[in-house]
Amino acid sequence: MSSCAVCRGSFEPFLSFGRMPIANGFLDRAQFAAEHYFELAIGFCARCGMVQLAGQVERERMFHENYAFFSSTSAAMAGHFRGFAEEVRAARLAEDDAFVVEIGSNDGILLQHFARAGIRHLGVEPSANVAQAARSRGVRTVVEFFDEELARGIVAEHGQADAVLGANVMCHLPYLQSAVAGIRRLLKPRGVLVFEDPYLGDMIEKTSYDQIYDEHAFYFSLTALERLFGEHEMEIVDVAPQDVHGGSMRYTVAHRGAHARSAAVDRQLARERELGLAEPARFERFRRKVEESRDELARLLRRLKAEGRRVAGYGATSKSTTVTNFCGITPELVEFICDTTPAKQGRFSPGMHIPVLPHAEFAQRRPDYALLFAWNHADEIMAKERRFTAGGGKWIRYVPSVGVSG
Ligand code: SAH
Ligand code: TYD
Ligand code: ZN
Repeated sequence: MSSCAVCRGSFEPFLSFGRMPIANGFLDRAQFAAEHYFELAIGFCARCGMVQLAGQVERERMFHENYAFFSSTSAAMAGHFRGFAEEVRAARLAEDDAFVVEIGSNDGILLQHFARAGIRHLGVEPSANVAQAARSRGVRTVVEFFDEELARGIVAEHGQADAVLGANVMCHLPYLQSAVAGIRRLLKPRGVLVFEDPYLGDMIEKTSYDQIYDEHAFYFSLTALERLFGEHEMEIVDVAPQDVHGGSMRYTVAHRGAHARSAAVDRQLARERELGLAEPARFERFRRKVEESRDELARLLRRLKAEGRRVAGYGATSKSTTVTNFCGITPELVEFICDTTPAKQGRFSPGMHIPVLPHAEFAQRRPDYALLFAWNHADEIMAKERRFTAGGGKWIRYVPSVGVSG
């Protein structure tokens, strides 16, 4: 039995991955022997409706001065966040001397637009290396974990905020109650929280089980979030699906009664009932599909190996750590993974220890197949790799199902 991080109810996991390493823990050979492992499992708390990990990894093991994920490695995501900033500025920052706080601001991919426009802002980012990248872009950043106590400090020093923003970070906060209490404190009476995270509905429908790893403590549905914010006298006033990270949802949250609630909220709640996002049978079906996907991908890679084909991984994503370890993808099956992030290059993938190499090696080594670990960036990558494809290179995908394309 596990204890719910939101309501302390107890639940049994519906899917277990076994022993897994730290998803972004790319490492050197000398670190192999001391690599940290934990039991990765996901469950549904019937009491509050939250889908979540059964057990958490200590945050300092994941977020530190050698954090490997730099947001600005995707041009498409840079465009996405430019749009996010424009939307917030146009709709939510009418006041003079507006103040914007971002939780998990990483290398400043979103806040840079506020900084450039001379808008008062503050990024909260515990991973010192990515925070430094933001600072060098002119983004004011504190190297801290956001929680209620930190929010008090921000209010004391800077006053309350017109907007609190977060992208792919709220689901990273197992101390969600404290974070929401902090956001409530931080927001002006008419201020708004705007955040987005990978959406449970998409994960279930696409069998994108690789979203499940240490950093993702929660897999949000609107149904579960509405209840959580309600307990804090807040309400979700708008929702908007986003076509990033394999399907995300953007939520706008305000103090209760401060803003009108969009009809999109009720429409999405109805959709979630149809999808069965609060039904154990739905999660059970998901588990079966995940196990089938694992077996099919492992079979395909073993067959290609037997036929003498060479396979490289494309994109050393955090998600790929779940896939490689769960499916048993060793360096014999995938000889290297290419990635544009300097902090990952020359190191090895967590658990399976597949070498991570610079992108130039992808063209030079000419694999027959590329296993698309960064499937959420497929459009950007396909445009970049026309020569590989035109030269007969094949792509292996596993979301929404295992398949090969030319
Ligand atoms: N917002 C960026 C980064 C997402 S990755 C984007 O969408 O691309 C998640 C980020 O949240 C990491 O940079 C991590 O260091 C940070 N983070 C983790 N726990 C946090 C906390 N308690 N408060 C603020 N940031 C946190
Ligand atoms: P991403 O899927 O955004 O995140 P996560 O770690 O949460 O799964 O990671 C994309 C990774 O792929 C990142 O390490 C950068 C890399 N990448 C490339 O190597 N080439 C590319 O063209 C793109 C878009 C990403
Ligand atoms: Zn619960």
